[in-house]
Parts: sequence; structure tokens; C-alpha cells
Amino acid sequence: MSANIIDGRQLSHTLRQDYGQRVKRLASQGVTPGLAVLLVGQNPASQVYVKNKVLACKEIGMHSVLLEFEADMTQARLLQEIDRLNHDASIHGILVQLPLPPQIDPQSVIQAISPLKDVDGFNLESAGGLMCGTKSFWPCTPHGCLQMLDAIGFDLKGKHAVVVGRSNIVGKPMALMLLQRNATVTICHSQTADLKAQTLQADVLVAAVGIRHLIKADMVQPGAVVLDVGMNRDEQGKLCGDVDFAAVKEVASYITPVPGGVGPMTITMLLANTLEAAQTALSTLTDLSAQTVHAAHKPPTPRA
Ligand code: GUN
Repeated sequence: MSANIIDGRQLSHTLRQDYGQRVKRLASQGVTPGLAVLLVGQNPASQVYVKNKVLACKEIGMHSVLLEFEADMTQARLLQEIDRLNHDASIHGILVQLPLPPQIDPQSVIQAISPLKDVDGFNLESAGGLMCGTKSFWPCTPHGCLQMLDAIGFDLKGKHAVVVGRSNIVGKPMALMLLQRNATVTICHSQTADLKAQTLQADVLVAAVGIRHLIKADMVQPGAVVLDVGMNRDEQGKLCGDVDFAAVKEVASYITPVPGGVGPMTITMLLANTLEAAQTALSTLTDLSAQTVHAAHKPPTPRA
């Protein structure tokens, strides 16, 4: 029997409607959530991604700004821009689109973003929070995958999850999130000796390596849930994933398509993180003003 399709567009639509209501509530309390997206250079794929991110913000009533810079921009200038945005009260989330040109060190740039505004969840404070189970922003793509599992009511406790890919952006944080939900997790990568032997053990298989159609039907356990993070192009330039969708959907119980699967969920989680950042900013403001009122009403200290 053919697998159920987990429709990332539909799920995103439902979630974003709820986020739109939350934006309205925050705005009525005086804080309109704001996202700044920074793009350096003219990478065509990045240009499409950033445009979609800014548009998604606008669609739910969030404030968003797209800041575009020439490819030869210096690292010092970019750091200066981030510092300005760290201090801008109308901006609650900062995203620097990757990859960056070779003269700019991505880790230095990511670290310059305030952890309170790190809505990509890429800096060391955010990564450490996920590692230790304390509150922090989670990277959007694996967070979107987890939301998809929640949407189909999949209980990860005691299940075997296999993640193919070990990037800092997807594979590693995905593994930690699955672990936090009590799955037994295996991480596979380019040096894994027998990939098929590993993937066949998976109740949940997350493919995030960037190799077109790497995961074939005979590598998937019947009834497994398959999440495809891949964004590759075939010879005709058509977008396709890391999973051989047509064949694997005949084996899996649930599967995500490419396009229309994990991709839209990544942007949806970016909106969720930006909302969360704005909510925290509002709570901090409210706490501060309560303290100020309290201090103003404190009786004067008696003189000796
Ligand atoms: N480049 C590709 N994906 C991402 C992402 O999720 N965030 C950023 N900042 N850059 C990317």
C-alpha cells in the first residue's frame, strides 16, 4: 500500500494561521515581531530563500527587513551591521543567509548575533541549550521535521531513529531532538560502512545528506516514516530530495515529498522562533516596567 504523504504546505498553512493570531495579540500589546534577513552576494538559490522568508513574515503581519550587500563586503562591516541590529528594538530575530563569501568566516558572524535574536538557532549558546535540554532556539529544519512527526501523532519513545547526515544545521540537531523525545538514535554519514544495514533498522528515517535519490526502496523498513530534507536538482533542473520518492512511498507508512514537504516547515519554524523572541522581549519589557513602578512606590529609606 502506498504511504501517507505528510503535506508540509498544508501543515505550514495551519500553523501560520495560528501564528498570525499571535502576531496580532503581540501587536496589540505594543510589540510587532520583527525579523531582519541579511544576504551577502547574489547566490540565486539564496536570493529565492530570503525572498520567501521575508514574504512569509509579511503574510502573517510580522515586520521584516531584507538587507542585501555586495559579495565583496568585509567581515568587519557585516559585524557592524549585526551589532546595530542586536540593539534595534524593532528587530527580534536576525538571520544571516548562508553560505557567505570566502572572505567572511561564518562562525564569527553567527556568534556575533545576540542569543536572544538567534532565530536560526545556529550559535553556540543555542546549540548548547539544545544539547543540555535548556530553553533555546532550535534550528528550523530539524524542528520542522519534529513538528511533522507530532502532526501524524508519532510517539518517538523507544523507537529507532536513523539520521543520514551530520551537519551542524540539520543532522546533529535532529539527532539531539529525537534523543530528547526518547528515541534511540543512529547518525550515519559519508564514512558509514554499510548504510543500508543501518537505514533498514529505522522506524523513522531522516535523510539529510544532499545526495539525490540516495535512499532507495530496499534501504527502508516496511512501515517506516521517512522524512526527506534533501534539496537537489535533477538533470532537468527539477527539485528533488535525497529519497527515491516514487519507489520508497510504496514501502513507507508516511513520507514527505520534495518539494512541499520539509521545505515550507523550515520557514514556518523561523516564524515560530521570531514570535518566541518577540514574546520574550515583551515579557522582559513588562518585568522591567513592573520593577520601575515598584521602585517608584518604595517608601524612602529612613535616615539614621
Ligand atoms: N542556508 C540554507 N539554509 C539556511 C538556513 O536555514 N539558515 C540560514 N541562515 N542560511 C541557510
